[in-house]
Amino acid sequence: MGKKNINQVSPILIGLMGCGKSSIGRRLAKRLQIPLIDLDDYIVAKAGRTIPEIFAEQGEEVFRDMEYEALREVLGKSAVIATGGGAIMREENRRLLKANPPVIWLKASPEFLADRIDGDHNRPLIARGETLKKLQELAELRYPLYEACADYTVPRGEMKKRKALKSILRFLKGWKRRQD
Ligand code: S3P
Repeated sequence: MGKKNINQVSPILIGLMGCGKSSIGRRLAKRLQIPLIDLDDYIVAKAGRTIPEIFAEQGEEVFRDMEYEALREVLGKSAVIATGGGAIMREENRRLLKANPPVIWLKASPEFLADRIDGDHNRPLIARGETLKKLQELAELRYPLYEACADYTVPRGEMKKRKALKSILRFLKGWKRRQD
């Protein structure tokens, strides 16, 4: 199978904060020669506010409404879509994800992620000094939801970005072959 065929796939990346959805997404988009849509960036551009501002001024529920709208708007485009870590929380989002495969979960443990995002002011759900604890809570709640949405799971915690990218590309080739 040539490169051309996997170019027609629009993969969606899911996973907890810090697992590399945006950075691996950027590399994947480059390889597939399609744009990357980072859902958080899309929301920020549309709202004209940063994510911490949206959370502080309007609250998480309003952010989740925006996230749902953004997801609806970008699905179906020819792009790699990097979602925010909480995009799987709403049932209607999970339904949208399931209807738009392939969905790829970059799975990593809270321990792996904590160092990577500690002290990041752009992530309002992470309170300083409590990063690991918060990630553990989120993982417990969200792992089953990521799993339910995913067509493929990358053990991101055990792989460097380059290897994770290779693993995704291999999956996409097989996935596309099964669709044809
Ligand atoms: C969130 C993750 C963030 C962002 C927002 C909420 C979450 O995206 O959407 O801060 O609920 O896990 P990243 O996963 O890209 O950090």
